[in-house]
Amino acid sequence: MATPGGYIANFFIILSVLLMFLSLTGADYNVVSYGAKPDGATDSTKPFLKAWAAACRSAKAATIYVPKGRYLLKAVEFRGPCKSRITVRMAGTLVAPSNYWALGNSLHWILFIHVDKITFLGGTLDGRAAKFWACRKSGHSCPPGARSITFNWANDILINGLTSINSQMAHLVINSCNNVLVKNVKMIAPDHSPNTDGIHVQGSVGVTIMGSTLQTGDDCVSIGPGTKNLFMTNIKCGPGHGISIGSLGREQNEDGVQNVTLTNSIFSGSDNGVRIKSWARPTTSFVRNVLFQNLVMKNVENPIIIDQNYCPHSQGCPNQSSGVKISGVIYKNIRGTSATQNAVIFDCSTSNPCRWIRLQDISLMYMNKPASSSCNNIGGTSAGVLVPKSCL
Ligand SMILES: *[C@@H]1O[C@H](CO)[C@@H](O)[C@H](O)[C@H]1NC(C)=O
Ligand SMILES: *[C@@H]1O[C@H](CO)[C@@H](O)[C@H](O)[C@H]1NC(C)=O
Repeated sequence: MATPGGYIANFFIILSVLLMFLSLTGADYNVVSYGAKPDGATDSTKPFLKAWAAACRSAKAATIYVPKGRYLLKAVEFRGPCKSRITVRMAGTLVAPSNYWALGNSLHWILFIHVDKITFLGGTLDGRAAKFWACRKSGHSCPPGARSITFNWANDILINGLTSINSQMAHLVINSCNNVLVKNVKMIAPDHSPNTDGIHVQGSVGVTIMGSTLQTGDDCVSIGPGTKNLFMTNIKCGPGHGISIGSLGREQNEDGVQNVTLTNSIFSGSDNGVRIKSWARPTTSFVRNVLFQNLVMKNVENPIIIDQNYCPHSQGCPNQSSGVKISGVIYKNIRGTSATQNAVIFDCSTSNPCRWIRLQDISLMYMNKPASSSCNNIGGTSAGVLVPKSCL
């Protein structure tokens, strides 16, 4: 038999379940209700910032929703810290201003700073940079260019299903962040577009990149100083310059790169496969504990390369050798085709030879014949099937 007290108790139970449900589902902030226009022409920067400010103040988990359509955004900075986890759910496309000068001097198009616990779901970024690249090729004076989306000093980031096309400079930059998962992203720019790195990671710890397609005019992934515990798997790279650790050692005082793994990935028609690159000048920088494993190369110009003699235009590093100490790099089960005769190039520093390098089960062909390899200033071991023959 229900008593009045029982009804009241039930009422409070139902109420608290409802409240719990609300706090779990969190609050929704639709950019259109803040005035954003999905017409690709009206500047929606302010409405996005208003939606951000509201979401950032929310005491419960907040979702910023970007409905279908094209939203014009100028250079914009989304600042934290925020009170709760923020999810940006995008069905729409963010488009850069058509005049590249509008972004070109700001270095960043979309910038997240000090934002912890952010989830980025879906969406497309269109940097519209074709005219910017043309300007750079023409030799006219052009602005330095903007990276499309950057996370600075942020922790606990999930980026899932983002597409970025035609960035001015790098598509996605992870700088000084901890605990980042990037999955199912596509970064696309033409082969001839300069400096359009797919994903650039630097000064960050615990970054995972999985299941992504990177087709760019520069590195698919570039790994800068201070990167630690980077894990990459199921990446399709190419066209582009491959996956590069470096360039390192530009600065005298520089943090190194350690504990990097790349597995189960495919390179197609890229300039490099896996590359480690350092400036030929003194530095404290280093590369240690790297595993490149289960990789397929399809018509790649330099499938495996260490180049410690990087000195563009012979400026600032003539007749010097690299101070970057490279050790503990394992190449395991890498097969496919090279677009050049010399598929394995180890050109290490005379003052700091590469140490503890390992080759195991390598099979790289050039024009249906075994490719060749070359070694300078390197020590290590090899095992298993080795085509080309190891020069270690
Ligand atoms: C190396 O990085 C992986 C993530 O890629 C991490 O799980 C592992 O603990 C790291 N190892 C060390 C020794 O830090
Ligand atoms: C570098 O070496 C070359 C050939 O050994 C020499 O001609 C040149 O003067 C050197 N440059 C510098 C800056 O030391």
